[in-house]
Amino acid sequence: MSHQTARRVSAAPRTNARSVNASRHELGHTKNDLPETTRREATDLLNQRLAECLDLAAQCKQAHWNVKGPAFIALHQLFDEVHEAVQEYADLIAERIVQLGGIATGTTGVVAERSELPDYPVAHLNGPEHVAALSDALAAFGRAVRIGIDEMNDLKDTVSADILTEISRGTDKWLWFVEAHLEGGKP
Ligand SMILES: [Fe+2]
Repeated sequence: MSHQTARRVSAAPRTNARSVNASRHELGHTKNDLPETTRREATDLLNQRLAECLDLAAQCKQAHWNVKGPAFIALHQLFDEVHEAVQEYADLIAERIVQLGGIATGTTGVVAERSELPDYPVAHLNGPEHVAALSDALAAFGRAVRIGIDEMNDLKDTVSADILTEISRGTDKWLWFVEAHLEGGKP
């Protein structure tokens, strides 16, 4: 979310003081019968997905506001539809974290530190360039969510896995919608 156009290349979560503190909070009380270790690991991992989801939502608006060109109306509206859906995915993830006794960390500062999505280019882009940039972000988020499904299944948190599966299904659909605007189906 910086003003750089360079892609982030690191796949490892950054671990500075703020993100570490955000991920090591005490769990709140709940009668949910999942083991505490499961809930702690699940909430940490889900907070990583939440950061990427909120980053993606901001990127959708960046595309929605700035797109120009012959396909303006179609892309302007599509990017807003994607934003609305992605914002709902963030709600699903955040509320699951709280159900498990965790704290949903969705502040801009934490999102900027934790998200591993490529930075959205801050430049005058034409329609196809916005399509390329947003499809990159959707594909990166889709990959992260698929990893999240495996993580939740490994933890035997089937409800979180189901929530991420729903989000994965939607993300793949929106990637299709956006990629359908690529000239000849190629980037
Ligand atoms: Fe708008």
